[in-house]
Amino acid sequence: MTDQIKETVKERYRAAALTVLDEGASCCSPKESYGASLYDDLASEEVPDSAAMASLGCGNPTAIADLSPGQKVLDLGSGGGLDVFLSAKRVGAEGFVWGLDMTDEMIALARKNQAEAGFTNVAFIKGDIESIPLPDDGIDVIISNCVINLSTDKDAVFREAHRVLRPGGRFAVTDIVRLDGTIDPDDTAGWANCISGAIPIAEFEAGLRNAGFTDVTIETTGSAGDGVANAEITAIA
Ligand SMILES: C[S@@+](CC[C@H](N)C(=O)[O-])C[C@H]1O[C@@H](n2cnc3c(N)ncnc32)[C@H](O)[C@@H]1O
Repeated sequence: MTDQIKETVKERYRAAALTVLDEGASCCSPKESYGASLYDDLASEEVPDSAAMASLGCGNPTAIADLSPGQKVLDLGSGGGLDVFLSAKRVGAEGFVWGLDMTDEMIALARKNQAEAGFTNVAFIKGDIESIPLPDDGIDVIISNCVINLSTDKDAVFREAHRVLRPGGRFAVTDIVRLDGTIDPDDTAGWANCISGAIPIAEFEAGLRNAGFTDVTIETTGSAGDGVANAEITAIA
C-alpha cells in the first residue's frame, strides 16, 4: 500500500510538472494558479511566471519563515520552485537555498525556471524528504508547502528535518491537517490530492516533539475541504 501511494503521488506531480513544461505559463494568466493565489502581492515579486503557475501549495511558508540575509534554507518538496525563489531573494547572495523533490519532472521544471530567472544562490536536488541527501546541522531554516501530508513515513521526515537543521534552526511549514474522522486514509487518489495523508494536529505536534523539536505551534488558517484545514506549523530544532 505504501509503495502504491508513493507511485500515485509521483505520477500526479510528474503530470503536473509536464503540463507546465509542455504548455508553459502562457496557457493561463500568469501567477494565477490556486497555489499562487495564497501569496499576498505575488505580482510584485520578480519570480518566473511558470514557477507561480506550477504552485501547488496550501499556504506561503516564506511568510512564516523569518528569513534573513546569509541564511541557508531547505525546501522539502520544492515543486516548480516558487518558495525556493522567494526565499533566495530574502537570503541574498550570501545565503543559499536548496529545493528537494523526488520527481525528475519537477526538478527539470524548477531548474528551467532557475535558468530563466538567473538565480545563482539556488540548487535543486533529487531525493526523498524521508532521507534527505544533505549533511547534519547545515541548514538554518526548513520550509515546505503542502508536502509532508503526502509522505507515508512522517516520523522519518521529522527525524530528517531535525538532523539537517542546526541546533536552534527553524522549521516553518504550511500543510494540510486532519480535523475529524471523515477522511479515508486508504484512498490512494485522495493521498495524491493532499487529503487522505493529512494527520491530526496532535499527531503532527507529537511527531515533531518526538524528533526533538521544541516550541511547536500549529495554527489552522482556513478550510481545505471536508474534514481538513490548511495550517501553519513552526518549531525550533
Ligand atoms: C503538492 S506539491 C507542492 C509543491 C511545492 N511545494 C509548491 O508549493 O508548489 C508536492 C511536491 O512534493 C513532491 N513530493 C511529494 N512527496 C515527496 C517525497 N516523499 N519526497 C520528495 N518530494 C516529494 C512532489 O513531487 C511535488 O513536487
